[in-house]
Amino acid sequence: MARTRTSCLLVCLLAVLTRGVTALDCAPQCRCYGTTVDCSHGALTGFPTNQHIPTSTEVLLLNDNQLSVVFRYPELPTLLELSLEDNSITALSKDSFLYRTSLQILRLGGNAISNLPASAFNGLSQLVRLYLNRNTITTITAFGSNSVVKRLKMLDLQDNKLTSIGIGTFTGVSLLTELNLSSNNISAIEDRSFSHLKELLVLYLHSNHIGMLTNATFMGMSALTRLTLSNNKIQSLPDMAFIGAPNLGFLDLSLNDLSTITQKAFSGLYNLTTLLLGNNKIISIEDWAFGDLVKLQSLVLRNNFLQNMSAATFTFTSAELLANDIANVEDFSFENLANLKVLGIYENRLTNVSAATFKGLVSVEHIGMGNQPIGSFPDDTFWHLPKLAHLGLLGNPLVSISDAVLSPLQSLKSVSNPEN
Ligand SMILES: *[C@@H]1O[C@H](CO)[C@@H](O)[C@H](O)[C@H]1NC(C)=O
Ligand SMILES: *[C@@H]1O[C@H](CO)[C@@H](O)[C@H](O)[C@H]1NC(C)=O
Ligand SMILES: *[C@@H]1O[C@H](CO)[C@@H](O)[C@H](O)[C@H]1NC(C)=O
Ligand SMILES: *[C@@H]1O[C@H](CO)[C@@H](O)[C@H](O)[C@H]1NC(C)=O
Ligand SMILES: *[C@@H]1O[C@H](CO)[C@@H](O)[C@H](O)[C@H]1NC(C)=O
Ligand SMILES: *[C@@H]1O[C@H](CO)[C@@H](O)[C@H](O)[C@H]1NC(C)=O
Repeated sequence: MARTRTSCLLVCLLAVLTRGVTALDCAPQCRCYGTTVDCSHGALTGFPTNQHIPTSTEVLLLNDNQLSVVFRYPELPTLLELSLEDNSITALSKDSFLYRTSLQILRLGGNAISNLPASAFNGLSQLVRLYLNRNTITTITAFGSNSVVKRLKMLDLQDNKLTSIGIGTFTGVSLLTELNLSSNNISAIEDRSFSHLKELLVLYLHSNHIGMLTNATFMGMSALTRLTLSNNKIQSLPDMAFIGAPNLGFLDLSLNDLSTITQKAFSGLYNLTTLLLGNNKIISIEDWAFGDLVKLQSLVLRNNFLQNMSAATFTFTSAELLANDIANVEDFSFENLANLKVLGIYENRLTNVSAATFKGLVSVEHIGMGNQPIGSFPDDTFWHLPKLAHLGLLGNPLVSISDAVLSPLQSLKSVSNPEN
């Protein structure tokens, strides 16, 4: 009696010590805690069998194993999250997820899936987040009008092999709020391809091969606040390129081939706070090109070929104002980019700047303008910028800046001086 009790004590103690506070039926390759079963980082080629996975499991982690297919069983009626990341899955069949009807989060990143047929996600009517990044997907029909995953909010297709987006690609996932299409090979986007995505807040299209946009590429995207198009091949922007996305707050066009910023390229972007245009080939910015950007806080134009910036570049006005007399324009110019806090124009070819260049930037706190051949500053260049705290001039050939330029600047905290 005493003996059995002792051995039970030992065995039970051992069980507790080796498994922590685990369910007694946890699969030997897995760790079980709460309603999570973690079988990641192993050598599994199939799902652990039924009797080893508690039926109450909510999170099942099978990432970093050697699975090549997705198994239908065991049925886990309360499963909310399934990770199959970093396995060797090459295809999804029409019944892969048939019995996963409660699933909300599915991670399939880092596999070798190349095709997503309409039936791939059968059963997943509750799915909210779907990760398909780092696969080799070339064609997708799973999110079109026959889509099963109608509740999807986040879709991650980063790092795949998509080459085009068509008008039917995303018609069946109208509740999406985040869509990541970065690091594909997309060169063609049909007009209005995203127009069903009325809730979309974030669209990542950076690192593709997009060469051209039209004024209808982003048509109908009334909720969009964040758009990345950096690292593409865009040479020019049409007039009103973003008129379909009037709520944009953040727009990244860095690392493209833009050479001219025309007057109407950014028309209608009254909510834009950040505009990134660095590392293009911009030679000129037409007057009033930033005229509608009344909430702009950060403008980065570094590493372009700008030579001349007129006061009008940074002033706010409209076509009717142009027809008015000069005095009027000057009054209004104070309101232009009155919210701009950061102006980055490093690495251009500016030679001369003056007070007129920065006129109206009453909130600007940081101006970076190093690495270009600016030879001298008129004394009053920065005098009308009451918030200017940081001035970056590193790499300009200036011999020195006179005290008269800097001493009247009440808010100035730092100046990075020219190197010589
Ligand atoms: C893709 O974008 C989504 C949406 O913002 C984000 O949650 C996700 O982390 C991104 N994926 C990668 C691989 O960076
Ligand atoms: C990307 O697409 C272009 C055609 O648009 C093709 O020539 C190129 O090989 C593709 N690159 C990759 C990495 O698939
Ligand atoms: C968009 O561009 C087309 C042709 O380039 C033009 O006919 C149309 O009026 C433009 N739409 C808007 C809203 O500017
Ligand atoms: C801009 O943002 C404000 C709130 O900050 C919002 O009320 C407005 O509808 C937004 N859109 C446009 C186009 O101004
Ligand atoms: C810049 O201004 C100079 C002198 O006014 C002029 O010769 C040059 O053509 C201008 N450059 C551009 C790109 O407008
Ligand atoms: C640039 O500044 C120099 C020296 O102040 C002046 O002689 C020249 O005319 C200026 N060039 C332009 C285009 O304003």
